[in-house]
This record gives sequence, structure tokens and C-alpha cells, in this order.
Amino acid sequence: MIQLIRGFRDILPGEVEVWQHIEEVATGLFDDFGFKEIRIPIMEKTELFARSIGEDTDIVEKEMYTFPDRKGDLLTLRPEATAAVVRSYIQHKMYAQDPVRKFFTIGPMFRRERPQKGRYRQFYQINAEVFGIGSALVDAQLIHMLIHLCKRLNVADVIPHINSLGCPDCRTAFKAALSAFLENVSGVLCEDCQRRRHRNPLRALDCKVPTCREALTEAPSLTAFLDRECRAEFDLLQESLTRLGLDYVLDKRLVRGLDYYSRATFEIQTGALGAQSAVAGGGRYDGLVKALGGPDIPATGFAIGFDRLAELVGLEREGLVRRPKLFIAALGERSRMLAFEWMNALGLAGVQAEMDHEGRSLKSQMKRADRLGAAFVLMVGEEELERGEVLLRDMTQSEQESIPLADVLERLQSLPAS
Ligand code: HAM
Repeated sequence: MIQLIRGFRDILPGEVEVWQHIEEVATGLFDDFGFKEIRIPIMEKTELFARSIGEDTDIVEKEMYTFPDRKGDLLTLRPEATAAVVRSYIQHKMYAQDPVRKFFTIGPMFRRERPQKGRYRQFYQINAEVFGIGSALVDAQLIHMLIHLCKRLNVADVIPHINSLGCPDCRTAFKAALSAFLENVSGVLCEDCQRRRHRNPLRALDCKVPTCREALTEAPSLTAFLDRECRAEFDLLQESLTRLGLDYVLDKRLVRGLDYYSRATFEIQTGALGAQSAVAGGGRYDGLVKALGGPDIPATGFAIGFDRLAELVGLEREGLVRRPKLFIAALGERSRMLAFEWMNALGLAGVQAEMDHEGRSLKSQMKRADRLGAAFVLMVGEEELERGEVLLRDMTQSEQESIPLADVLERLQSLPAS
């Protein structure tokens, strides 16, 4: 039997309802905050991701699904959405009329990471990206939206972690200090950190190897290197979070796994998911639009790990799965044809109905109705047809009523909403 690819998975009925629910709540929230949906391809030129995310990152070095197409062009299944949204913003000159644009996009991403609970090779993200506003107030708004999305989904136990990566000027001084620090502990660093120590020392700060994490507990903090403007923006972020009534954790190690960030970075973390504690991550990427060939326009955004959020919501999934309103237990050929007509008319009227197609006994049809969780069962057989009326049983109240054949559809279409 052919199995699915390692790290890939099926999202089955029962779980899908949770995903649909999240999508509905998230798109409602985006709409209320003025975000427009954008749909972008799942494949782009490799160069787009290499240049945006950074050549020295884990994602670009080890995790991308990259292959030459038949003409030899290098293509990559998107490991994230931000670079592609930026590409689209530039390509369609969306800045020309009004540089301020707010987008959201939902879809699959691909990273060849080591699969484990909460970490997949095909996973889904809900992204939000804001272009054209440099103020930390927008970063605070994004965090506010994330926390309230969790609240609307009844996900408690989430807290924003925030940090500032400063601008490239602040980072030059910081990198020198961090490089010197890494020199001192180089004996215990993993191979990647050794290699990246000079070119991109920041990457050591989010290395997942335990010995590196341990060695870096005393590493210098970037916030100590912020210049006046970056400091003021970081203060503004904290002040505005407080104004919005949000608690947060200052997390000096939060450098994120992608190179394009500047100033505010944040993650929404939870204690409920074990090792994969980040439900969402994001931050400002003020230099990226320019670096990819567009004008100098600031931008910020986030991505929610849909799989992880679904797992948190899934704990409360009861009630999300729609059950049939009605099961039509039909006995005999004539009744079955009538049931078939009614079932299809009810479907169009928004009343979910099921029936038996196999000519089973009444007893086994009732059992099936019960298993499906149908709220009502309509019983129709030769005898009922002779009498000109059918029996409707309310399964929750255990009550029964007769309905004249001529009134059946009208009566069924007005069954009480569950
Ligand atoms: P990221 O931190 O790489 O950021 O991913 C965001 C979220 O996606 C993570 O917090 C996590 O919940 C989820 N995620 C990442 N990798 C996996 C995986 N292998 N399996 C399951 N879930 C995963 C970004 O991708 C940035 N583009 C976010 C952003 C948007 N920054 C600015 N705008």
C-alpha cells in the first residue's frame, strides 16, 4: 500500500471542522481590521526565498524543497509566505496608489524539518502582512489581533514574547560583540554555529542544539545596543501593548529563524504544546521591500502555525462537527425513491438529511441514525404510504408525530435549528 510522504499528513473529517472554524473566525477578524485576502502561488523561484530568508538560515540551508524544472530553473515549494507577498506587492506596484496595504493569506508551506508532534514538512500558516507603516503601533496591533484571535477560539495559556532586533546599524555593533562572545565559547558550539559565527552570528541565538542554547544563556542582549530611534520604537511597542491591556514577556533571545527582520520581533507562545511552543511568530521587516527591488517601504507581519492552533482548538472541538438533522428510514422501493427526492430537496433547503440505500431493516436503519447523531428520524414504509402519512420521531425528546404525505417537505424544511 502506498503511504503518504513522511512529515506530510491528511486532515480528516472531524478535524477539518476545527480548521474551518478557525478560518472563519480568523477571516472575520481580518475583515474587521481591514485586511484583504491575497492568494499567492505555492512555488516561486528559489532565489526569492534565498535572498529574503537568508543564505545562512536553517530554512534555506537545509529545509527547502528545491528542484530544477524541466528547463533547469531552480524552483522552491514555499517555506513561508512573506517573501512571496512582498514579491507580489512589488511586482504589481501596489505601493503606487497607496503604499499602506494590509493583506492576509492562508495556505500550505513546506519545510524539510525533522517531523514530530507540532512540526510537519507540509504545514499551514495564516499570514498577515502590513506595508507602508513604520510605527511600532502596528506591531502592537498585530499582537493584539493574535491574542484576541486565540481568545475568540477559546485558546487560553498564550502569551506574547517580544524583542527588538534594531536596525542594521544597531546590529553591526551587536554582531561584533556577539561574535567575540561566541569566540570564547566556540569549543562547545555545534558545527552550524561554528560556521555561521563570523558571517551571521545572530543565527547562533536561535540554534536549537541544547549545548549551544546552554552556552548562550549569558550572551549579550541586542536591546542593549539599540540606537535612540530603535529604542524609542521598542518603548512605544511596550507602552502600546500595555495600553491594549496585554501582558508580554521581554525575550532577549527571540531573534527568529529568518534574516529579514528588523526592530520588533514577536512570538505567541503557549505551554500547552510541549516542545513546539510557538503558535505564531512575526515581526518587522523594514528593509525587505527595498532589498527585493521595490521602493524603501517599511513592513511588518506575522504567521500563525495553523496546525498548532488547530491542535489547541481541537481540545475543545465538541459541537463543531455538523450532524445530520434528519435520517429518513425508508422501507421498500417506493418509499426509498420518495426518501431520495426528499433528501435532495432538503439538501438544497439547507437541512442535512441522510438515508439508507441498501434496503436494511428498520432496526438497523434506526441504529445508523443514532450513530450519525441525527436529531430526527422520518419513518416511511408501504404501510405509511397506504395510510397517506409518515412518522417523524424527535430523537432527543423521544416524541413522535404523524405528518400527512402532502405536508412532509414543508414540515421537514422547518425543523428547528440544532
Ligand atoms: P516562522 O516562525 O518560521 O515565521 O513560522 C511561523 C509559525 O509557523 C511558527 O510559529 C509555527 O507555529 C509555524 N510553523 C513553522 N514551521 C512549522 C512546521 N514545520 N510545522 C508546523 N508549524 C510550523 C514565518 O514563517 C514568517 N514568515 C512569519 C512572518 C510573517 N513574519 C512577518 N510576516
